[in-house]
Amino acid sequence: MANFDFTKRDSFGSKMGIIAAAAGSAIGLGNIWRFPYIAGENGGGAFLLVYLFFIVVIGVPVMLSEFVIGRSAQRNPLGALKNLAPKTYWFLVGFLGIAAAFFILAFYTTVAGWTLEYLYLAVTNGFQGMGADQMSSMFEQFRTSGMRPLIWQAIFMFFTAFIVYRGIKNGIEKYTKILMPALLLIIIVLCIRAITLPGGGEGLVFLFKPDFSKLTANGVMQALGQSFFSLSIGMGALITYGSYISKKDNLGITAISVTAADLVIAILAGIAIFPAVFAFGIQPEAGPGLVFITLPMIFQQMTGGYFFSLIFFLLLSIAALTSTISLLEVVVAYMSEELNVNRKKSTIIGAVSIAVLGVFCTLSQGPLPGLRIGERNLFDLLDFSSANIMLPLGGLLIVIFAGWFMGVDKVFDELSNGGKLNARYKHAFLFIIRFIAPIGIALVFLNGIGILNFFSGGDL
Ligand code: PHE
Repeated sequence: MANFDFTKRDSFGSKMGIIAAAAGSAIGLGNIWRFPYIAGENGGGAFLLVYLFFIVVIGVPVMLSEFVIGRSAQRNPLGALKNLAPKTYWFLVGFLGIAAAFFILAFYTTVAGWTLEYLYLAVTNGFQGMGADQMSSMFEQFRTSGMRPLIWQAIFMFFTAFIVYRGIKNGIEKYTKILMPALLLIIIVLCIRAITLPGGGEGLVFLFKPDFSKLTANGVMQALGQSFFSLSIGMGALITYGSYISKKDNLGITAISVTAADLVIAILAGIAIFPAVFAFGIQPEAGPGLVFITLPMIFQQMTGGYFFSLIFFLLLSIAALTSTISLLEVVVAYMSEELNVNRKKSTIIGAVSIAVLGVFCTLSQGPLPGLRIGERNLFDLLDFSSANIMLPLGGLLIVIFAGWFMGVDKVFDELSNGGKLNARYKHAFLFIIRFIAPIGIALVFLNGIGILNFFSGGDL
């Protein structure tokens, strides 16, 4: 088979397109499903504060490092590291990223499938008249039922593959540019309804008033993991997207815009969800079912609830889709550039093999209870370990690579577009990726798994 023709590599068509696609990758179930449930399990306000800190001090630098690596090498994550550091073992970092894409996509499509079920329920008016208890037992029943979630998951994987198959400009970019602004609008409407619910104020206190006595070492680690998961960093999705960014774009501004958009959506999701949690007497530590129970409850209390629930679940599915395509793109870019399998075949092989693992994730929720290690079933295990172990480890290696091994000239060259921009922050950036970010990640991680002990409480 002919080698991949790198002169014909696809790319993003416009600045807006890049931001939409990268923000599309970042904004997803991580913001609306995962952030509230993890924040809820870790006490709310104090978690949010630590999360914010990690986003700014570690998240932005890791994201920018990924863009720098990707655009400089013009390759998939594994190829990029091979290209920038030939004859070394750095390519293994790319390999770790591709493995992470596999694991994340497997459990992520389970949840994405849930959103389709809820979209279906919204269309058929299936939540009507239910109280909080009924809502949570309906969710439990569905989640553990086996067949139905599997079908939705398969449908979702099909849509993902369909878009990735079409490429960057006519697939990923075209869809995300329209869909992301619509999502923002609807979340704002939901927030307004949530904060005006009687008894909802307590939810805002929970989210915004830090109570550090509720925060454990494990919670701090989870805040770091959540920041990586939510920003799509630490596994090469943004190395891959970075490789499609034009040489004329300002990478620093792109990284900050994407981060800001992601953060705004997570906080808005929190504002929409926690008031409802308290107004309807739901436990904030309800776990992965949290949004699927609270949001339908809010919709029921709204004039026009039918309409809003319908567009909300539609948009949530779409937000999930713009993230799943970035995950599948990592695998497809790798296969087509390194293994010389054409894009069409790579997409099919990638999607099908991930779907197989995905089936087990879904079934581990109910029909196959044996698929577990200790407390955690396969789904929880992949959810927990990808965010809290694989991504921080990947991010750690990425900043170390960009800071110490890639070459300062190359890094500065990307930040300043070959000297055309006066990226004045570049020395500060270098300092952060050389010292602050790697040391920070390492400390949080070692503390979280109990090797160091800065403050007590919370085990893995
Ligand atoms: N950031 C995405 C979300 O919040 C998930 C994701 C993680 C996507 C890693 C790509 C890479 O939903």
